[in-house]
This record gives sequence, C-alpha cells and structure tokens, in this order.
Amino acid sequence: MIVDGEEPGGVSKAAHTLLRGGLVGLPTETVYGLGADAENPQAVANIFQLKGRPADHPLIIHIYQPEDALHFAQKIPVFATQLMSVFWPGPLTLILLRREGVAEFAAGGHDTVGLRCPSHPVAQALLKACREGLGGISIVRGIAAPSANLFGRVSPTTASHVEQEFGEDLVVLNGGACQVGIESTIVDCTRGVPILMRPGEITPDQIQKACGLAVKSNFLSNKGLLAPRVSGSLASHYAPTAKVRLYEPEDLVQAIRRWLVEGALRSPPSLGVFSSDLYEQVKKWPDTLHYKQMPSHAPDAARMLFSVLREFDAFKVDEIWVEFPPTGSQWDGVRDRLQRAAY
Ligand code: TXA
Ligand code: MG
Repeated sequence: MIVDGEEPGGVSKAAHTLLRGGLVGLPTETVYGLGADAENPQAVANIFQLKGRPADHPLIIHIYQPEDALHFAQKIPVFATQLMSVFWPGPLTLILLRREGVAEFAAGGHDTVGLRCPSHPVAQALLKACREGLGGISIVRGIAAPSANLFGRVSPTTASHVEQEFGEDLVVLNGGACQVGIESTIVDCTRGVPILMRPGEITPDQIQKACGLAVKSNFLSNKGLLAPRVSGSLASHYAPTAKVRLYEPEDLVQAIRRWLVEGALRSPPSLGVFSSDLYEQVKKWPDTLHYKQMPSHAPDAARMLFSVLREFDAFKVDEIWVEFPPTGSQWDGVRDRLQRAAY
C-alpha cells in the first residue's frame, strides 16, 4: 500500500509500523529501502526473509542525525567524523566499529556497522518520528534498510517499483523518484584510511578533499574481483530479467546495423538500447526496438539507470544493449552497476 510521504499522516503511519516491529518501504535520495527497527532482531529477520537475502549480509542502518552514530559505533576515527560533517545528510555510508551488543543482527553478526544519514526529506521526517517514539514510550534510533528489491535484482527508485517487488501488503512511503538513482558510496573507516567498498555519486576525489587522506580502493571495476563481504559486490547483482550486454560505442552501432538487416528473423527478436547518441536514427527503427538516450552527465545517467532497466523489462525485451559509459571516476558508480547487470 503506497502512502503519501508529503502528508504527516503517511509519515506517522510508516513510523507506527516501524515502532511496532513491522517493515516499510521508504524513499531515500539514492534508492528506496526496505526498513525495520535496526535493534529489533525479529523485524530485521523479516527483512532478510522478505528479500531472500542471506542473513550474514550486513544491512545499512539509517540514522536521523550524525550524533546518533555514537549509539551504534565506537572508536570513530577523526577522518570518519570529517566525512560525516561534509557529506551527511547524504549518499555516503560509513563502515565503523560496532558498539558491542548493539544491532548485532542487523550487522549480520559482524563487529562493524554500516551507517548512513540520508538527506531525503521524507526519510528525514520518518527517522525523526521514529527517534521521538510513540508517546515517548518506544523509540527507534536507527532504521536498518537494504535496497527494497528481491536479492540480486535491480534496486527500486520509485514507490511503485517497491510495490512491484513486494506486493500491496507492504506499507510504502512515497517520496517521488530518487534523485541520485544508484546506491550510496560505501567507505570502510575501520582500517586507518578510507577504503572505497562501493562506488556511488560521491567520488574518491571528493572524499580525499574532505578528509585529507588518499582513498584506497577495495573496489575494482572488473567483474568478480571484489570482496564478498559487500553483497553489492557479488558479481551478478542489479540484474534485470533481460540479458544485458555492454558495447563500446562503435561496436554498438555495428551490432544494431546487423540486427536491423536481419529483418523478420532478427535474433534476439526484441531489444532495449540505452546509448548516448543514436537518437536521430530511432525514428526509423522497428517497434521491437526500444530506445532510451543515456545522458552525457554521469549524475543524470545514474538517476535514470535502474528505471530504464525496469522499463525495458516491462516491455519484455529479450536483450538490453548498453553503451559503455565514458571513463572518469564520476562514471564509476554507473559503470559498476552496469557491469554487474551484464555479468
Ligand atoms: O543507498 C543505499 O545505500 C541504499 C539505501 C536504501 O540507503 N541501501 C543499500 O543497501 O544499498 P544494500 O543492503 O542493498 O547494500 C548495502 C551494502 C551491502 O552490500 C552490505 O554488505 C554493505 O552495504 N554493508 C552494510 N553494513 C556493512 C558492514 N558492517 N560491513 C561491510 N559491509 C556492509
Ligand atoms: Mg541492494
């Protein structure tokens, strides 16, 4: 059931659901999350069950304000505090040493915890209501929320995407289409220097500038070479139903030409194409070819990426052909998600 996040009634319905140990779909600036009280083991178990996610995969805990990090984390290094003050609220998740006995289940049993303070006004309103509690009796200090998609599938960027994943019984707070569109940048702060675990809108250059330390990378854009403890780093992730293929720009043009001349015997029979500059030719294409133009600005491409993949799936295309995004670290997040989708 989708409820309006702009209405106080919608936020309080979602807050009541969370405070009573239920699950809600909630908007953030990156993607929608499937949230529960981070300190309620049964509620957290229900997230793992509903998503079909292995229970040792830690969840990100969303907090209302940076001060609340102290409830979940200990021995927070100075550089992490600097990153909080520059990027929070915003699309940055910090991995910190977990305080003993706190949110163990949400952390998948790890001795660390992933924390993020989201900037989306509806997420902020929900976190605030949860923080204040029901008549002051119960309070929720953190909302554990993975992306609100079934394990391994494309993350949702609208409330109706969430409903498509989990059906109408789930309360989904509507906050419109997500502005960032890909998941938060994850930085491990437990090993002395910032280590990039997942690329996102906030780039290593920005992180270095904010804290004065060079960012090491645990993320390699080649397939299959990532640390398995970040589930977003499993090689096959973020995958739509249709097979995704990535092409260099010239190769994509050639492949489409070949596909077009095959006529009625085309293989695959239908295509979705996401590329930068074929727009002029689209008019001459058969209606078994669906086209979306990839913006030239990385944040714009990120914003539409997952909804484009979902749209192509809704057209039941057989394959999705995507042009390799340009080089440059601002494209790392988009390139990373595409490479996993194509795996
Ligand atoms: O933008 C986002 O980060 C979204 C929104 C909803 O906030 N959330 C999201 O959650 O992408 P999820 O669960 O799909 O991905 C979170 C990633 C996982 O790959 C998980 O392994 C990693 O964060 N993570 C969370 N806590 C961790 C920890 N303590 N140590 C290592 N990795 C952790
Ligand atoms: Mg996810």
